[in-house]
Amino acid sequence: MKRVKWGIIGCGGIARKRTIPGMLMAENCEIVAVQDVNLKIAEEVKLEAKAKYAFSSFEELLKIGEIDAVYIASPLFCHKEQVIASAKAKKHVLCEKPLGLNSDEIKEMMVACEENNVKFGTAFMARFHRYHVKAKEVVESGILGELVSLKAQFSFEYPELNVWRQDIKLAGGGGFMDVGTHAIDILRFMSGLEAREVVAITGNQFYNYSVEDTSHLLAKMNNGAVMYVSSSYSTNAEPNRFEITGKNGSVYGYDTLSQTGFDAKAYIKMVGEEEKPLTFEGDHVNMYTAETSAFADAIINDTEVPVGAKEGLAAQLLIEGAYKSETVKL
Ligand SMILES: NC(=O)c1ccc[n+]([C@@H]2O[C@H](COP(=O)([O-])OP(=O)(O)OC[C@H]3O[C@@H](n4cnc5c(N)ncnc54)[C@H](O)[C@@H]3O)[C@@H](O)[C@H]2O)c1
Repeated sequence: MKRVKWGIIGCGGIARKRTIPGMLMAENCEIVAVQDVNLKIAEEVKLEAKAKYAFSSFEELLKIGEIDAVYIASPLFCHKEQVIASAKAKKHVLCEKPLGLNSDEIKEMMVACEENNVKFGTAFMARFHRYHVKAKEVVESGILGELVSLKAQFSFEYPELNVWRQDIKLAGGGGFMDVGTHAIDILRFMSGLEAREVVAITGNQFYNYSVEDTSHLLAKMNNGAVMYVSSSYSTNAEPNRFEITGKNGSVYGYDTLSQTGFDAKAYIKMVGEEEKPLTFEGDHVNMYTAETSAFADAIINDTEVPVGAKEGLAAQLLIEGAYKSETVKL
């Protein structure tokens, strides 16, 4: 089987803990080079990934001719420059969410990838969770009836740490940008609906960093249904969860947005019937293996990538609308 040769840009939390181990289990992927501004980390990850090269400069990594694609998992404020440079170096790009600090950045990145004829995907690995795929099938079967509401919550306690995610200039925003983007994406994915209007409550209830710690949005979807996303940095007390409700019943799940997703539970409940576990054939999959393997397949077969940049852009436009929305003061 042909294998896609990868370069990794940014070897921090998500790359080292989840995506690289996932990619190493994908039969159609091989990691050739890794890069991190911290060369010590890059050298350590090079050994873990059995890669040939470690760099502190992404420009050096992009000079390696045998690399077909890059996975970009640097902090958000680095994405635009690195995606555009990768496109110009004719590397296909799988970039971590959120793709850019704002939608203008994302559009610029999309143009660069198009002009250089390289594929550009958003690393929304949660689309590969078996319960999200199954819930999408349930919605598409029509048994829930016309959809009425879509809800997802993905919050956690994030005290002040002086890190890039808590600086508005480096992270573009708080809970919405970091985890709300996943919640929005799975609701769009499972429902097939698009948001047409959005309003939000944001602010800082507990912490004084420059991004919000309180992030709740409501959106009106193209069929009139309402989406509710809660993605605050204020508490660990609420598990992540989703619920899609139609006229005839609901499909809902818990812990499906966690990084492994293996402990997730999901159910279906029709009006007047008992709750039943949502079932699917086979086992849960490693979402990062599924994500990178599907992206590699798209390169090998020259087909559309499974989760394109347009999905990252759609989530970003909703978040931007949420930030711009105004409340009525009482
Ligand atoms: N899909 C998911 O499940 C998931 C989970 C967490 C984070 N993320 C996303 O992944 C990205 C990285 O997040 P993280 O939690 O791994 O961050 P992190 O802070 O843990 O790691 C970032 C790494 O990038 C390195 N770095 C800093 N500047 C760099 C540069 N200019 N070039 C290359 N590397 C640089 C740092 O040294 C660090 O090792 C973000 O976009 C984040 O939103 C996705």
